[in-house]
Amino acid sequence: MRVLGIETSCDETGVAIFDEHLGLMTDLLYSQVDLHQQYGGVVPELASRDHIRKTLPMIDQALTESGTTLADLDGIAYTSGPGLIGALLVGAGIAKSLAFALDIPALGIHHMEGHLMAARMSPSPPDYPFVALLVSGGHTQLMGCTAPGSYELLGESLDDAAGEAFDKVAKMLGLRYPGGPEVARLAEQGDPHRFKFPRPMTNRPGLDFSFSGLKTFTMNTLASLQQPLADSDKADIALAFQTAVVDTIRIKCQRALQHTGFRTLVIAGGVSANTALRQRLQKLEKQSRIEVHYPPTKLCTDNGAMIAYAGFQRLKKGQREDLSINVKPRWPMTELLSMRD
Ligand code: KG4
Ligand code: ZN
Repeated sequence: MRVLGIETSCDETGVAIFDEHLGLMTDLLYSQVDLHQQYGGVVPELASRDHIRKTLPMIDQALTESGTTLADLDGIAYTSGPGLIGALLVGAGIAKSLAFALDIPALGIHHMEGHLMAARMSPSPPDYPFVALLVSGGHTQLMGCTAPGSYELLGESLDDAAGEAFDKVAKMLGLRYPGGPEVARLAEQGDPHRFKFPRPMTNRPGLDFSFSGLKTFTMNTLASLQQPLADSDKADIALAFQTAVVDTIRIKCQRALQHTGFRTLVIAGGVSANTALRQRLQKLEKQSRIEVHYPPTKLCTDNGAMIAYAGFQRLKKGQREDLSINVKPRWPMTELLSMRD
């Protein structure tokens, strides 16, 4: 089975082809970051228009590069939610039209399941059951996963997602969008002893997160320093913020593992590319005899490969949908159909 994957949920156009026997044949990514840069964040209408411009030429390129003809495709997977409605509609419209013309199935994929499935594309994929930490620009969730497609929500952010907090702190520090990698880069020069930021919601039981207070704490710390800020001030703050986020996530992951009794942790979504987070969880892996898995770094942030792969898994199980175009800007992962045998 060969599946074309289309990702258009936010500000990246991803097109990939996954083959049951050959694996990932091609994975093309176009980032709109330069388009949105001047606004400091994603402008939804501009995002939709750019997806319209880019998706079809990228499909052509993916077919050519992988030596695939349209007749070789057995199915099309596209991101049907959560995400920006206009952006999602572009991918859904193209996927459904192409599938109709080729008389093959098109299947809507949950963006966060795509992120999670990316971890199963690594050379040593995790076995079920596991706790999944999904950390992106829009989500911070802990999930109990007992089988492909079977998800139980254990905890989530009550306000900002971790990636969103990174992006907002980057803005305060005058860094480029998207801010996560920029804050991480700046933090490398920071002094770890200068500031200690709070670890929100860790001193009470539960698996929920809250990052908005940490963001305010960062802003107040910035304002308390002599202006204009020295580069070293910015680096020290970036490091204190990143360490607080990483430590909070580590505490909650440990708690979720204790709560479920599972011994495997899977981290996915854009923030899982963060080196400090990976290093901290690797330390936990050694200390606590648990296994920690991540997607290959290239597949941590948005991409088409994860959608093609997740689509392949579901299409292979016989999952189908009709030709109506139906996207879901909000969509709890717990509503997904299980792929349990
Ligand atoms: O998964 P993703 O590409 O898109 C969404 O589904 O949201 O995640 C993007 C988020 C952004 O907030 C970005 O700042 C953050 O992931 N991010 C990082 C890093 N790389 C991306 N945050 C911290 N450290 C990184 N290295
Ligand atoms: Zn994403």
